[in-house]
Amino acid sequence: MDGELKVFAGSSNRALAQNIADLLDQPLGSATVERFPDGESRVQINENVRGADVFVVQSTSAPVDTHLMQLLIMIDALTRASAGRITAVIPYFGYARQEKKTTGREPITAKLAANLLEAAGATRVMTLDLHAPAVQGFFDIPVDHLQASPLLADAMRRVLCGEVVVVSPDAGGVARAHDFSQRLDDASLAIIFKNRTAPDAVQPLNVVGDVAGRTAVLVDDLISTGGTIGEGAQALQERGAREIYVCASHGVFAGASLEVLAHAPLERVFVSDSVPLPRQTNGAAITQVATAPLFAEAVRRVHNEESITALFT
Ligand code: R5P
Repeated sequence: MDGELKVFAGSSNRALAQNIADLLDQPLGSATVERFPDGESRVQINENVRGADVFVVQSTSAPVDTHLMQLLIMIDALTRASAGRITAVIPYFGYARQEKKTTGREPITAKLAANLLEAAGATRVMTLDLHAPAVQGFFDIPVDHLQASPLLADAMRRVLCGEVVVVSPDAGGVARAHDFSQRLDDASLAIIFKNRTAPDAVQPLNVVGDVAGRTAVLVDDLISTGGTIGEGAQALQERGAREIYVCASHGVFAGASLEVLAHAPLERVFVSDSVPLPRQTNGAAITQVATAPLFAEAVRRVHNEESITALFT
């Protein structure tokens, strides 16, 4: 693309945006992102973007609505300032778990978020490990769907020892866990069948697969309340797992999740830095894996019209 490459950041994850810009040898674009006294978001783009190939980095993490709105307003400002192309770089895509109706009179909020991004003027989306890959289809613009698993598997390989079993904490995550097991030298696979009794409460029912005496790696797309992982780790310990690790693409860490993880029988939790880690981890052993090299390379490739698929093959 001919336009000059520019990277802007919302306020959700400035550290990641800065690291991406640094790796691209670009200064972060100058923008004011603040609030009016009544709480409305205010954005001002402070430099010329006419014809530019602009990438706006913003995870729609908590406060989710504020960060989504900020992103929409930044895209609107860039559209009205005649940017040539606007890519919403959304390391963590909030609302992706509301991607289908599970009962009557429910919204499909992931689709609404996609509509809003397009209506604001996004011409492309780049994101990481969507809760459901089908959310890509909610957009009628190109979506670059990046994977954190190669980075997470590299980091985990350095600490894992003994016979490894990769565990999906629920039936829906089997494909993800299977992919991860292949990245860990064809580790074996086990599945926990969980029962969600309330939005913030889960009860594991059964573990299918052999975990006794093995190093178990629970793999999930995200950790929110920590309920899925906490209960899953408990079930694995009861079935004789030797050590239990966790690997999740997004450390959302809502509510008391860090305490839940600190009290669970876990050696360590690995997450990407798509969402900033809280200052205090309250005793939970967490390793954040840097995604800036991945995003920077993907941005470089998109700007130069090179393949993204080649990054993962
Ligand atoms: C569920 O389908 C997801 O893959 C995660 O397992 C879930 O969203 C994690 O949430 P929590 O940490 O609140 O159990």
